[in-house]
This record gives sequence, C-alpha cells and structure tokens, in this order.
Amino acid sequence: MARQALTNGFLGGFMYVGLALVLLAYLPVAFLCRLVYRLLIRPFAAGEDLRGKVVLITGASSGIGEHLSYEYARKGACVALVARTEIALRAVAKTARELGAPDTLVVPADITDVDEAKRAVEETLAHFGKLNHLVANAGVWSSCFFEEITNVSAFQNVMDLNFWGAVYPTYFALPYLKASRGNIVVTASVAGRVPVARMSFYNASKAAVIRFYETLRAELGPHVRVTILMPGYVVSNLTMGKGVQKDGNVGFDEDARDLQRVVLLNDRLLFACTDEKA
Ligand SMILES: NC(=O)c1ccc[n+]([C@@H]2O[C@H](COP(=O)([O-])OP(=O)(O)OC[C@H]3O[C@@H](n4cnc5c(N)ncnc54)[C@H](OP(=O)(O)O)[C@@H]3O)[C@@H](O)[C@H]2O)c1
Ligand SMILES: *[C@@H]1O[C@H](CO)[C@@H](O)[C@H](O)[C@H]1NC(C)=O
Ligand SMILES: *[C@@H]1O[C@H](CO)[C@@H](O)[C@H](O)[C@H]1NC(C)=O
Ligand SMILES: *[C@@H]1O[C@H](CO)[C@@H](O)[C@H](O)[C@H]1NC(C)=O
Repeated sequence: MARQALTNGFLGGFMYVGLALVLLAYLPVAFLCRLVYRLLIRPFAAGEDLRGKVVLITGASSGIGEHLSYEYARKGACVALVARTEIALRAVAKTARELGAPDTLVVPADITDVDEAKRAVEETLAHFGKLNHLVANAGVWSSCFFEEITNVSAFQNVMDLNFWGAVYPTYFALPYLKASRGNIVVTASVAGRVPVARMSFYNASKAAVIRFYETLRAELGPHVRVTILMPGYVVSNLTMGKGVQKDGNVGFDEDARDLQRVVLLNDRLLFACTDEKA
C-alpha cells in the first residue's frame, strides 16, 4: 500500500514536471516557428494564380472597386465591370487592359434591381463562359443622426444597395462559383463591427452583410471561399461625402464628411480582412 502510494506520488510529480518541461521547450519553439512563418514565409507565399480567371466586380466605376479591378488586371485576370455609369466603366476597362487584363467586359447595371443583377451575371457567363471570383463591392454611405432625418423611407436605399446589392449577384453567381470552386469577396466595413455615431443605417447594412456572408461561409463549406473585406478609411467618392443625405437624396455633404473623417481617423480604423473557410 505504502509502496503503491509512493509510486503514484512519484509518477504524479513526474507527470507535472514532464509536462512543464515539454511546455517550456515547446512553446518558445512553436512561437518562433509561427513568427518565422508570419514574417518571412506567408508574405511571399504565392497567392492564387489568377491568370485567365474571370472576375465580376460590382461598383467597379470608382473607388475601391476600380482599384480592385486594376489589382486583378495586374495579375492577369479577365474582369467584368459592373456599375451604373457606363462611361466611367469604359475608362476603367481601358486602364485594366493596359495593366494586363487579357479581356474586359463592361456591364452597366443597377444591381439593386434583381433582374439587372441577374443580367450582369448572365452577360458575364455568356461572354467568358465561366466565373471564378465575384467581388460584391458596390455600396453607398450615409452619415447623419437618425433624429435629423427628414425622409426616413428613403434610407431603404442604403439597405437596397449595401445588402441586397450584394446578395442578388451572389445568388445568381453561386452555381457558377461552385462549378469553378471559386471565391466570393464582399466589401463590408469596420462600421459593421465598431459603433460609429451617425452611421446607423450604414453600419446596420454592413453588419447585415457580415452576418449574411459568415453564414454563407458555413453553408458553403469548402466549395466556395468567402472573403469579407473590412476596410477602415479609404479615400474615395464615398468618403469625400457622397451619400444618402438627411432628406434621402444622394449628394455630397462636406460638413458631414469632415466630421465623419475625424471620427474615423481618431478611432484609427485600419484595413482588416477575414478570410476563413468554414
Ligand atoms: N471608402 C471607405 O473608406 C470605405 C470603408 C469601408 C467600406 N467601404 C465600402 O467599400 C465599397 C466601395 O466604396 P467606395 O469607397 O469605393 O465608394 P465609391 O467610390 O462611391 O464607389 C461606389 C461604387 O458603387 C457603384 N454603385 C452605386 N450604386 C450602384 C447601383 N445601384 N448599382 C450598381 N453599382 C452601384 C458606383 O458606381 P455608379 O455610381 O456608376 O453606379 C461606384 O462604382 C462600399 O461597399 C463601401 O461601403 C468603403
Ligand atoms: C422620400 O423618399 C422616397 C424614396 O426615395 C420617395 O419616394 C418619396 O417621394 C420621398 N418623400 C419626400 C417627401 O421627399
Ligand atoms: C452602429 O452604430 C450605432 C450608433 O453609433 C451603434 O449604437 C451600434 O452599436 C452600431 N452597430 C454595430 C453593429 O456596430
Ligand atoms: C468619383 O467619381 C467620378 C465619376 O465616377 C470619378 O471620375 C472620380 O475619379 C471619382 N473620385 C474618386 C476619388 O474615386
């Protein structure tokens, strides 16, 4: 009995000491490996080869969508550019070809309209025969105190574009994205996570986008990758003050812009990105 207790005591003690030694040896090594991977390997790891792949980008006529189009073009992807202003899309298409896009397609469409969203996807398929990435980026900003709004029903526009304007193209593109084991990229915003005053509708629309695409990521599993972009402050027409005003019309409100810019910059909102498979 006494001997057994002694043995157990010894083994128990040995276990703790052993565990402590393993942890002491393992943790620094694991930490070092992760550090080396993060700093030296991941930044240089070859991303997806985009040459010849087909990318549909909404809101491609200006701002973030325009510049994402150029990034895809530089990597040799074909781009289908969607927004309402055809003349601006043509200019973006020209630059994209100069930067290396083998082919471009301009599809003027208002994606808050379900039939136009469908047409945008179908025209892309008719032209290129496949779809690898959908970048649901078109969005409008609104910045005013809820109580100051004079036409509240007009703020449905924010939801119509920021939420439904992403959901409609996603719905019609999904079968093709599954076939190509493709990628959905959606532009949400840090405002969907961080409370920012005067942006109740905007941040509600982006919170809806985040929840929707996180759920979709879980539903789609490994078949289609879902990337949720969370830009902080990026200079564009949107942050230059273009947005839905108190009276519900879209226009430039420079006072609101300057105030909002201060709010955003003080919070030092940075570009973040979540990209996980379910
Ligand atoms: N800039 C930032 O700091 C920031 C931060 C976080 C998130 N974001 C998000 O990033 C995305 C892009 O914003 P941005 O800053 O690049 O703004 P932007 O320059 O105003 O671009 C908005 C784009 O959406 C298009 N668009 C607007 N209404 C449309 C409609 N009904 N149908 C189709 N396209 C439409 C616009 O083109 P047309 O007018 O020609 O249709 C334009 O190409 C938005 O979702 C925004 O919420 C921006
Ligand atoms: C309020 O906005 C809605 C939707 O944009 C519009 O149909 C309506 O005419 C506007 N009402 C006023 C009083 O401006
Ligand atoms: C959106 O903004 C409002 C007002 O600033 C804030 O109370 C709310 O928590 C924000 N929502 C999210 C999801 O961040
Ligand atoms: C704003 O939009 C106009 C017209 O689409 C475009 O010419 C201009 O370059 C845009 N400005 C920025 C800062 O993106």
